[in-house]
Amino acid sequence: MSAELLSGTAMRREILAELAAEVQSLQEQHGVRPGLVTILVGKNPASVSYVSLKVKTALELGFHEVQESLPETISEADLLAAIEAWNRDPSIHGILVQLPLPPHIDEKKVINAIDPDKDVDGFHPVNLGRMVLGGEEARFLPCTPAGIREMLVRSGTPLAGAEVVVVGRSNIVGKPIALMLAQKGPGGDATVTCVHTHTRDLAGHCKRADILIVAAGKPGLIKPEWIKPGATVIDVGVNRIGESASGKALLAGDVDFAGAREIAGKITPVPGGVGPMTIAMLMKNTVRSAWLHCGEKR
Ligand code: GUN
Repeated sequence: MSAELLSGTAMRREILAELAAEVQSLQEQHGVRPGLVTILVGKNPASVSYVSLKVKTALELGFHEVQESLPETISEADLLAAIEAWNRDPSIHGILVQLPLPPHIDEKKVINAIDPDKDVDGFHPVNLGRMVLGGEEARFLPCTPAGIREMLVRSGTPLAGAEVVVVGRSNIVGKPIALMLAQKGPGGDATVTCVHTHTRDLAGHCKRADILIVAAGKPGLIKPEWIKPGATVIDVGVNRIGESASGKALLAGDVDFAGAREIAGKITPVPGGVGPMTIAMLMKNTVRSAWLHCGEKR
């Protein structure tokens, strides 16, 4: 039987409708609009496209949105000064610097320069520390792993005691999602294994996963026979595998989708799975930041 498709596009719509109601409450109760600045350095085509989508979504939600486009040649000192100015601006609750940055700029320094209480990407070491502590301490969770967890929770996938296998250990997906799902409490309580390039029996680990989360960046890495019948498969891979006749990028995940779909219980498509959830979570973090700046814990 074919697996149920977990549509990030449909879930994003649901989340944005909930956020629109919160934006209205913020306005009514505090006269505040969530403020987001999106900083784009240079003209990397993928970054331009991601940032335009973030700006469009923020505007649709009624945010105070500022898009700052800076030249590829900007010095590190000037970029840090721009961030400092946004840190001090009370109309701004979220600062996003689109990555990657040009090679002459130290990404770590830039991330560290953002006020942790405006770091809606959740990349600042303070927010990663808060995430590790978990529970009430967690503030802004990184958007892609937060989106994955939201998909699991909203689709009614049981997490407590589930065997979760995460393929990949990047700072922005693998490591945080492994930690988040192992935390005590709702949306956690799973038994998590994180596998990577040095793991001896990748197939063996995948085969016992009730929930398999793949963020390796290798098209077709996960074979259908590695999937436990009925498992939930979350494919985070976004690999360009060619171009359509009209020049549009053709994308594929890390999982052999056609085969996996016949074995899994639920599966995310690529595109249209995890991707749309990332932007929804960025918006959610920005709304949360606006509430927190109004002295309300949400
Ligand atoms: N580049 C690719 N993904 C992301 C993201 O989630 N946030 C930022 N700031 N840059 C990115």
